[in-house]
Amino acid sequence: MMRLDRWLVTLGMGSRSEVQRMIRRGAVTVDGLPVTDPSFSCSPDNCTLTLHGAPVDGRLVRHVMLHKPAGLLTAARDRKQPTVMDLLPPVYVAIGCMPVGRLDKDTTGLLLLTCDGEMNHRLLAPGRHVDKTYLAEVDGPLTAADAEAFAAGLTLSDFTAAPAHLEILSCGESSTARVTVHEGKFHQVKRMFSAVGREVTQLHRERFGSLRLDEALAPGAWRELTEEELRALRQDAQMEEK
Ligand code: URA
Repeated sequence: MMRLDRWLVTLGMGSRSEVQRMIRRGAVTVDGLPVTDPSFSCSPDNCTLTLHGAPVDGRLVRHVMLHKPAGLLTAARDRKQPTVMDLLPPVYVAIGCMPVGRLDKDTTGLLLLTCDGEMNHRLLAPGRHVDKTYLAEVDGPLTAADAEAFAAGLTLSDFTAAPAHLEILSCGESSTARVTVHEGKFHQVKRMFSAVGREVTQLHRERFGSLRLDEALAPGAWRELTEEELRALRQDAQMEEK
């Protein structure tokens, strides 16, 4: 349970004194009834809310699938550069939705964001081995020997990568491949290709654990997860069903 004024502040609807004023003026209803007491106790999971007669989505826990376009930082905020959070309505920032892991600025594709800090942490925990699948374009031919090197576990400057799956899709002056890795170190995929002498020219994430990028989402578009997607992700994170 939560005080009504705190609920509205958490939704980013104003400062504490601003929302208290709105409530006292009768602008807010809870479950269809006007409430003028800011300390009124509500359940954000179950109560319905209106402001000036218009319904307000009061959910404080939300999970988002975003098709990250190139050119945006994966960060909650940045003083100079635009971030993925700029693609979402402000309420998602207000309630604390955060990216799960990072994609490089020039990487596109599936990015998960959630307000559930525990799920975020568990999906990234070393040893959890949530698979991530990427489509990569590289600057030269790829060979069966490269696929074997990925499968054996490449030695990088500061760690040995866990065995990864490299499926060569096209081979030529530039090549494309689908790569599945089981860990998520900084610049991991680019560094793995660099270890076999190739530079990644484009990188796109298709999958994160059981979650697959919805092809109906254009770059920059997003939607909330379905119940089924959320259930599967909770299993990836080895979390109890709530
Ligand atoms: N590996 C990379 O090198 N970059 C990404 O953005 C994701 C994985």
